[in-house]
Amino acid sequence: MARTETFEIGGRAYPIIDHNYDVVVVGAGGSGLRATMGSAESGLKTANISKVFPTRSHTVAAQGGIAASLGNNTPDHWSWHMYDTVKGSDWLSDQDAVEYLVREAPQAVYELEHAGVPFSRNDNGTIYQRPFGGHMQNMGEGPPVQRTCAAADRTGHAMLHALYQQSLKYDADFFIEYFALDLIMENGACRGVIAMCLDDGTIHRFRSHGVVLATGGYGRCYYTATSAHTCTGDGGGMVLRAGLPLQDMEFVQFHPTGIYGAGVLITEGARGEGGYLTNSEGERFMERYAPSAKDLASRDVVSRSMALEMREGRGVGPEGDHIFLHLDHIDPNILGERLPGITESGKIFAGVDLTREPLPVTPTVHYNMGGIPCNYHGEVVAGDKSDPEKVVPGLFAVGEAACVSVHGANRLGSNSLIDLVVFGRATGHRLKELIKPGTSMDELPKDSADLSLSRLDHFRHADGGSPTAQIRAQMQKSMQTHAAVFRDSKLLSEGVEQLKDVNKRLEDVHVTDRSLVWNSDLIETLELDNLMAQANVTIASAENRKESRGAHAHEDYPERNDAEWMKHTIAWFEGWGGKGGKVPIDYRPVHEYTLTDDIAYIEPKKRVY
Ligand code: FUM
Repeated sequence: MARTETFEIGGRAYPIIDHNYDVVVVGAGGSGLRATMGSAESGLKTANISKVFPTRSHTVAAQGGIAASLGNNTPDHWSWHMYDTVKGSDWLSDQDAVEYLVREAPQAVYELEHAGVPFSRNDNGTIYQRPFGGHMQNMGEGPPVQRTCAAADRTGHAMLHALYQQSLKYDADFFIEYFALDLIMENGACRGVIAMCLDDGTIHRFRSHGVVLATGGYGRCYYTATSAHTCTGDGGGMVLRAGLPLQDMEFVQFHPTGIYGAGVLITEGARGEGGYLTNSEGERFMERYAPSAKDLASRDVVSRSMALEMREGRGVGPEGDHIFLHLDHIDPNILGERLPGITESGKIFAGVDLTREPLPVTPTVHYNMGGIPCNYHGEVVAGDKSDPEKVVPGLFAVGEAACVSVHGANRLGSNSLIDLVVFGRATGHRLKELIKPGTSMDELPKDSADLSLSRLDHFRHADGGSPTAQIRAQMQKSMQTHAAVFRDSKLLSEGVEQLKDVNKRLEDVHVTDRSLVWNSDLIETLELDNLMAQANVTIASAENRKESRGAHAHEDYPERNDAEWMKHTIAWFEGWGGKGGKVPIDYRPVHEYTLTDDIAYIEPKKRVY
């Protein structure tokens, strides 16, 4: 900690506490901790800022496992993993990045094992791997492959503990329950971050050579999501406020099996272990939609099939608004050993003993394929039309906050945990290449805290007529209705207008408590501001894309259109604090090339499972 300086904003004085680090990572989920560990291990003075205790980050909720072609339970090869990932992405992924992901995956998993992750075991002592949707043998031909390495159904939880301990071992400093407010930008480069300590309301200015955004997704812009309430896309909000774009935000994943009513995740590992879905007629309907992969087709396909069953009157329950997931035919000892967490969730959240009866489930918002555009080194891409690969010096993004893009239009289950560690690790490597430990830093510009503090001051004293919770609920319901599993032109254009209107309500927000200390209403308002921008960017990007691809199922344009739409959307936001809500849109080319000559570009074809 260094000097303290006082800033005058709105006639009020805000003392600022300064810190200098080689690297600052924002977020302590799987990717943030892996980047923190890597950076600290290479001798860089590293800080991690997290709004929750690290082991409570949302990675804790990741159940079923982490994909890597170890080949422990069935034959496997990295090229098969690559094929499945590209096909799963509906060909919108960047294939150089996908090749990097799948080739580095086994090593990244072995490193986790050595870091202390207690993976479930096969009888011969190797890591247990289960089947997951869309993962096949023989370049998509099948049969299903067992590629997902599991620690029972608490894989993310186990990873967080191991990675947090390793980061502490390498002497990273943790600023826990600090809320990051804004990036410090100067001449197009990132120079640090402004954050607020939730405990005492102090403002902290972190000056660093590298800032890594590992802030997770923005699932909470929807009403029902498997995402924690903390998933408010704070990094995406900061990037948009810095005048940088987000990428492919129209692609929002619905997980087929959220518990009906509660939205709590039931892992795809449940179907991997033999679970299956039925409609109100008791029919295993996935056989009609995906004759080969059936219940283990990719998530967008299964979620759409469920939605169609419900729409055509074959949903379960008095309102026909859910589907049954059966695990009651599986040996209860196997369930106890491999899926203990969801057995408990079934009881708590649905009152169902899933060893005896089916569980009511429905497609639920789960993951954002879009996010902060970056390359496979974690470097953030600036969105420069004349140079689509130009990066923002000093700024990195990893995990769900980022869009590398390896998931394209639809992510395969268990590819998210591997994305976290492979790209968290890659970013650590890049930081080591770029930054010499202890290199001196220039003074920050005089106005480096002005943007953050004036925004903080504005919301802290906001005295309008609309409570934050009311505006948030309106935004969430609009998103739930207008940007769901199926979309059409009318729904989307109405959604764009509704979201602009909800955004305007932020001008009239009312924050109840004026203090800075443990002021949850203020923090929720700052989070809502982040969510609101991303909700507007998502719906505008969805309205703009006139085709169906992966998770974006547009009923007026039911086919994928490679000729016109094989491109990434990039979108900015102009309309902060409720003003305007304009979303300028442009495009970046998809990388239609691989990283090495070991594998050729995988040509697009029709996606059938
Ligand atoms: O179904 C699950 O266990 C979730 C995994 C994932 O989203 O990758």
